[in-house]
Amino acid sequence: MLTFSRSIAAAAALGFAAAACGSSESAESDVAATVAAADTTGAAMWAHLQESNYETDWQLWPEKGRLYTGQVPHGMLLTTYLNSVAYEALTGGAATMPAGAIVVKQNYMPDSTLAAVTTMYKVPGYNPDHADWFFTKHLASGVLDTMPNGMGMEGRLPGCQNCHVGRQSNDYLFTGALGGGGGGR
Ligand code: HEC
Repeated sequence: MLTFSRSIAAAAALGFAAAACGSSESAESDVAATVAAADTTGAAMWAHLQESNYETDWQLWPEKGRLYTGQVPHGMLLTTYLNSVAYEALTGGAATMPAGAIVVKQNYMPDSTLAAVTTMYKVPGYNPDHADWFFTKHLASGVLDTMPNGMGMEGRLPGCQNCHVGRQSNDYLFTGALGGGGGGR
């Protein structure tokens, strides 16, 4: 009986594996799509950041360490991460960030408590008026922050883009110069 039920279990497991195998192509491409493109919702961005272990696996902005002193309005202490697409573009001297580039800035309180996580994600065709950037702002807990009118802080956020447009010639980025300028400003 034991053998019999084991073989049933084994057959069931194999059947499951075969079924999973049969659909693995689409499953794999779904995963690839998730990794390549975090989608344009705050929830998808947060999930992508967690799944990709950005705090350990992404690059820091060159020449900026962790918890460097920031400018208004982002907070006293900042840590800025680049996904591989963004890092290669920055260090390779690209004049603009390519599709799929993600820049994440953690904003810390003066006592080094994480207060918020802001992102910029380059999505071709998404935001033609503002260099195709998708913006998000999350609280440290991962909850999407909200604007005074109750809208979630995800998407074409006027507050973010109207200030970042001041660096239009640098693809909206403040922290350092694109086009071979490296990390310094
Ligand atoms: C009043 C101007 C202003 C506003 C509003 C603003 N930012 Fe920024 N942002 C900056 C400055 C200045 C820096 C560079 C910070 C530093 O180095 O101290 C920066 C840096 C960043 C960075 C790192 C990439 C870069 O540009 O260097 C991200 C990501 C970012 N901001 C996202 C956001 C998001 C998302 C919002 C809206 C929720 C936002 N910012 C609102 C001025 C602004």
